[in-house]
Amino acid sequence: MLTMLLAMCLAGCGRQEDTQKAVDGQDGAKDLSGGPAEEKEIPFFWDIHTTQELIPGDFLVYHVDCAGTEADQLGLYQSSADQEYGADKATGKMWGYQPRDYMEAVADASGEGAMSSRWEIREGTEYDGEETGFYYDFELPSGEYEVTVGFYNPFSARTVCVDLEGSCEVDALKILKYKLTEAVATTRVTDGSLQVKVYNPDRGTDAMKDPVLSYITIRAVPVYDSVLLQQYLEQMEVPPEEAGIYTASTCQIYQEKRKEALKLAEGEGKPEEYRKACEELKEAYEELEEIKVYTTFQVGKRWTDDEGNLIQAHGGQVQKLPVRDKSTGEMVEKWWWVGEDKSAGYRGGIRAYSSDDLYNWHSEGIVMRNVDSREQLEKEAYFQELYGDYTEEQLDNVYASLSSQTAVIERPKMLYNEKTDMYVIWFHADGPTAYSDSNYAAASAGVAVSKNPNGPFRFIDRYRLNTCPEDQEDFYPQSKGMARDMNLFVDEDGTAYIIYSSEENLTLYISKLNEEYTYLATDPEKAVYGEDFIRLFPGAQREAPALFFRDGSYYLLTSGCTGWAPNQARYYRAESVLGDWVNCGDPCVGDDKRTTFDSQSTCVFLADEENGTYLYMGDRWNSEDLTNSRYIWLPVEFDEEGAMYLRYQEEWSLEALTP
Ligand code: GAL
Repeated sequence: MLTMLLAMCLAGCGRQEDTQKAVDGQDGAKDLSGGPAEEKEIPFFWDIHTTQELIPGDFLVYHVDCAGTEADQLGLYQSSADQEYGADKATGKMWGYQPRDYMEAVADASGEGAMSSRWEIREGTEYDGEETGFYYDFELPSGEYEVTVGFYNPFSARTVCVDLEGSCEVDALKILKYKLTEAVATTRVTDGSLQVKVYNPDRGTDAMKDPVLSYITIRAVPVYDSVLLQQYLEQMEVPPEEAGIYTASTCQIYQEKRKEALKLAEGEGKPEEYRKACEELKEAYEELEEIKVYTTFQVGKRWTDDEGNLIQAHGGQVQKLPVRDKSTGEMVEKWWWVGEDKSAGYRGGIRAYSSDDLYNWHSEGIVMRNVDSREQLEKEAYFQELYGDYTEEQLDNVYASLSSQTAVIERPKMLYNEKTDMYVIWFHADGPTAYSDSNYAAASAGVAVSKNPNGPFRFIDRYRLNTCPEDQEDFYPQSKGMARDMNLFVDEDGTAYIIYSSEENLTLYISKLNEEYTYLATDPEKAVYGEDFIRLFPGAQREAPALFFRDGSYYLLTSGCTGWAPNQARYYRAESVLGDWVNCGDPCVGDDKRTTFDSQSTCVFLADEENGTYLYMGDRWNSEDLTNSRYIWLPVEFDEEGAMYLRYQEEWSLEALTP
């Protein structure tokens, strides 16, 4: 944007009112102008208006969206976007364009707001170099005005001139193709109206040099000083009790600008400094963003955290977790949501959120970061603290497993281990290997630990897990111990299990974890089938497992394997984790497309202990734009036999379910 700031003419440090009254001969002061008698009738702008009244509208008196019909902004003296010269319907002020046969109103869908329409010169116009152009008149009290003229030109570059009150204030301004060009000039009005003329005297016979005109903005010019800044401070004040309703980041910017403004208001500054402080304070005030408070689950809709950012915890898990309160140091219970951070797309780290009510979430940040280079692992303090004592070989492994360029980190789940007082994350750790470039060649389960649920989590290793016993049919014998989509479950006796897709996603496995939850209970070489692990539904090709316990039964909800595209859910029931699982079919009711209501399972948890409400968490992946994948959370229903049902609802709350 090209901005020309001409003749700011801000007179000294006195108030504008006093200085100009003298000049304009108002208030009984001696008339030095010698002009015709009726000019004395014209009032002075600041005798009619106060700065307080004009601060909210940025001193805008006119904002003409040339040839436009819908105004996105209106000045004090107008009630329509543009008009032919005449009395304004609401304000009675005389303003508008002087009509000419050659003026052509053009709409432009490529421009927004005042750039979506403009005046052009009709084709075939007999052009008179000094005469042809766009003429506007605006009724205005005496005073100083800042005039901004905007050009959004779809044609090749050309120049334009702007006359204000018959004097050329902007000369041969170059306006470029499809660039917004603005010119700003201040002028003094004493005769009751401001004349604006936009033209191109250099046009000659070249129609490719015709002028265009998109908008004209006229602002009254106040005196920018400490008195005005004080008025801004009063109008842009946020009472302390209201500060909490805004997001922390916008509130912080506002507080900083306010502090700067307060300091300047008390001291001495130049008019430009006061203007800058006024404008920045107003901008920060207007940018204050209210925290959106949710009281329902809005299924599949944009869901933002208490900072207004999209929640990024895909393929995730929610549980009630003991966490240390940051302010009191006491252990408290919080809802804790971990998941894939897809803010940068496919690859990313693991993020966590905390909540007290399951509707409103606070980001606890990236709890396990991925790493940009092998060097960063050794140089950056964050990684140094985590991996300072790792061997070169271990560091290579960390890099391969967490690289932001090649690693795939999916479906993270977290457990708190009471015995070690550590938080443990398991995740689907994938990516290329020495033998394959595929994103899903490693097919491993990764483990990371931390003393705090908000990290930083230290990556330990990624593993292949249990393998098909020799007396059973292995559906993918060429690659042993694979582990992809996964979940965790802790049984009533504290034993933890990892549930995951193996054998190239053809067979689900459930494997017992050790007491620390950091590895398998028994090494794969020694693991005993039925005691340490089981295979489920060999060849059935299920993934996205979500295991939960309810009323004496274990449930396992799964999806089919169709990548990011949704498919039909299926659930199984058993009497013990490593027991016999029975296929109970699709729990969805009214899911005509058989796509689990366009979602894929990731977790089912007890959301309301008192009323026994379980909640289904699914992902509605957006394969074109994974960042904008949405969450499908639905209440789970059970009948008397314990059969499970999922019904779609657009919006619901736990409270409204309660009988
Ligand atoms: C799905 C899987 C997701 C992700 C995706 C990649 O089948 O459940 O977690 O791996 O494939 O295509």
